[in-house]
Amino acid sequence: MKEREKFASRIGFILISAGCAIGLGNVWRFPYITGKYGGAAFVLIYLVFLVILGIPIMTMEFAVGRASQRSATKSFEVLEPKGTKWHLYGWGALAGNYLLMMFYTTVGGWTLAYIYKMATGKLTGLDADGVGEVFNQLLSSPAELTLWMVIIVFLGFGVCSLGLQKGVERITKWMMSCLFLIMIVLCIRSVTLEGATEGLKFYLVPDFSKMTQSEGGLFEAIFAAMGQAFFTLSLGIGAMAIFGSYIGKDRALTGETVHICLLDTTVALMAGLIIFPACFAFSVDPGEGPGLVFVTLPNIFNQMKGGRIWGALFFVFMSFAALSTIIAVFENIISCTIDKWGISRKKAVLINGVLILILSLPCVLGFNLLSDFHPLGGTSSIQDLEDFIVSNNLLPLGSLVYLLFCTSRYGWGWKNFRKEANTGEGLKFPAWARIYVSYILPVIILFIFVMGYLQKFFPNLF
Ligand code: ALA
Repeated sequence: MKEREKFASRIGFILISAGCAIGLGNVWRFPYITGKYGGAAFVLIYLVFLVILGIPIMTMEFAVGRASQRSATKSFEVLEPKGTKWHLYGWGALAGNYLLMMFYTTVGGWTLAYIYKMATGKLTGLDADGVGEVFNQLLSSPAELTLWMVIIVFLGFGVCSLGLQKGVERITKWMMSCLFLIMIVLCIRSVTLEGATEGLKFYLVPDFSKMTQSEGGLFEAIFAAMGQAFFTLSLGIGAMAIFGSYIGKDRALTGETVHICLLDTTVALMAGLIIFPACFAFSVDPGEGPGLVFVTLPNIFNQMKGGRIWGALFFVFMSFAALSTIIAVFENIISCTIDKWGISRKKAVLINGVLILILSLPCVLGFNLLSDFHPLGGTSSIQDLEDFIVSNNLLPLGSLVYLLFCTSRYGWGWKNFRKEANTGEGLKFPAWARIYVSYILPVIILFIFVMGYLQKFFPNLF
């Protein structure tokens, strides 16, 4: 068997896994749901979920990847006891990666569009309605939306076509370094704005009564916090597991997971530090929803001295975050197809590139030609449906599959998992955690999953 390609360095592995985690979830989703659910109290609950759920599950994904030396479409097959059917989830994982990209490429495209619009002054001097109008025009133009989506898909697959070390590792490392730098500069700018303190208070001082003010009450907020933890770490669809298959055995996996989660959390928290002080400094409502970054923020940049440059820089930051996830997930999809069908990387890039372009179209068209179609009722769009299938279903249920696979004796089992996770130097997965990950964590996930469903479809029950 041909030896599997490996990352050139440990820092490469950490930055690429962090790049897969750090994305629109951190800089777009996290700030707006934090705004919606009342700020600091929500952040606290989210952090609890990252620790009690994110760290164990990500370690499990890495362990499955490293032990099998395969991507999700093959890894279960290599490790499962003979005659069992765990490998069927390989298809679920692959579908999850596709579905995630089917809407991610559209929002990623918006970030590119906004760099262009900011830098060329298309938003300069507009009032709040004017900025909203620019966003609506972008959404209602199938040609323009498709163009930006196509550009981001080409960039992503272009990088992957250069190979693991020369493409994915080299370029993501460079992008992530720039991202951290830009983020620090933007943070300093935002927290030193006059009137920023109120925003810092909203963001950093918990007030639990605010969490219950959303329509769905406390439970909706808790469900959103759990969903965000899954989303931001790209858990449950093997998007992380793949990077376990590209590393050696010299480091124990729990320690690596903690580094990655810390990087991801730092970026999410700092995105909030950029956005909330600015919102309060310019009297803008932080609970604006998904439009927060694309409609509200440009207003703020418009009122700021040098706002055109700050704005363009912010959207460069955002597009790097989006691209780092797109490249990582494309790499997983490519690797899944190579492992499953034994084709070359070049062929896998071509086939998947065309597929992703076609599959991204429903989301694009859902904002214009198909905007009368509301798959989840109300004002929901095709993007909402795709996001719902991935974030509320495949990520938690897929995580449950990894969890059971690594703890049940009918799967790969606790002993094998722990041996793999603890091979190498660094923080180990503790033996005492067995009861927790085998019996308590699956119940927590299932409970919140079912309650979230009930609340979405039968809100009158609550
Ligand atoms: N983990 C990715 C993000 O946060 C999906 O955007």
